Amino acid sequence: MADSSESVRLLKIPVAELKVGMFVEAIDKNTSKVNIANAGQIRSTEAILKLHKSQITHVWVNGERSSPDLGLGRSVIDAKPVIKKRPVDRETTQKQAKELMVEAKDLIHKVLSETFEGKAVEVQPFEALADNMIESVMLDADALKCVSALRSKDAYLLEHSINVAFLLVTFGRYLDFDTDMLRQLAIGGILHDIGKIKVDSQVLNKPGKLTAEEYEHVKLHQTYAVEIMSQTKGLSQISKDISLMHHEKLDGNGYPRGLKGDEIPIHGRMSCIVDIFDALTATRCYKEAMSPAAAFKILISLTPFHLDQKLVYEFIRCVGVYPVGSLVQLSDGRVGIVWAAKGRDALHPKVKCFYSIKNKCYTKVEIVDLLRSSFNIEKGISPRSLDIDPTPFY
Ligand SMILES: [Fe+2]
Repeated sequence: MADSSESVRLLKIPVAELKVGMFVEAIDKNTSKVNIANAGQIRSTEAILKLHKSQITHVWVNGERSSPDLGLGRSVIDAKPVIKKRPVDRETTQKQAKELMVEAKDLIHKVLSETFEGKAVEVQPFEALADNMIESVMLDADALKCVSALRSKDAYLLEHSINVAFLLVTFGRYLDFDTDMLRQLAIGGILHDIGKIKVDSQVLNKPGKLTAEEYEHVKLHQTYAVEIMSQTKGLSQISKDISLMHHEKLDGNGYPRGLKGDEIPIHGRMSCIVDIFDALTATRCYKEAMSPAAAFKILISLTPFHLDQKLVYEFIRCVGVYPVGSLVQLSDGRVGIVWAAKGRDALHPKVKCFYSIKNKCYTKVEIVDLLRSSFNIEKGISPRSLDIDPTPFY
């Protein structure tokens, strides 16, 4: 939340809420305002990350000298992307989210086939899809989270592409990025693994560990991505970065370019985190899905040499200990899908219960509001620990 000084229209805002285009006039030191010699407009997300790293928690922004489209002439709150909210029920948003998933899969499927045939990628349809995705997240993020948690074993590339895009939008929104940035993140996420279409699918879907030679072959998807991106007109640098940086590592041991430290901007770092998280929590033909909690442990273990530690913790806070769409066991032995988390603390979502682990049988389907119930969440569980299929309850 921003403090403001009306007379000079200076706004004290947390660095986490800084946006490209804001004019930083001073930093906040021991709760007093200290003017800086290099005052100026934030031109890139790298500049924001630098402020993050320099331990500065708040800065003073001159609203009138900031980019006019941020609307800071009025207030920071007004500057947030405005998408009109219609009063809609969950059944409707869930249905819309399912339709969006079908639309996204169809579009990506079409583009993957065209890329396979050597045709250039058209950006325009992805812009429209990205806007629908952002609107859906703004309208009812819980519905989309729930629908995207539903995974099939045979559509990994499609679902992974959509989920990476969706997770980037969710994470970007959590970090208070503007709508234009969210759109670029979404497009980058949708296209991030497009190079895989040119990789041998038998190697790509091989159950078990890859040989050194096979691993080198899979890595080629990023070389192909460079070619595809260079032929794609109208794709922003940020969207390209998402695709070309999601396998880079902070210590320089990633690929395709072996970028190091500051060479990887914040959106590139976000793409690495999101890509790994989604891969771990997905069901594949050769592996079961990991629970979000187990995936978080792995993400943390990859810091700081591979992933950005601060961003990993932000991501965990953003997704939550019990993400919407994941399965949990309640203290009475019932199992359910985390159904709604908006406006609640992490431990008290609404849970859609449908099964009893204790009695090994289905129960009456019931939405349990943990803020009003004597039950609590005992633990998060992975779908593999159930001997039934939860799909019909999504
Ligand atoms: Fe990849």
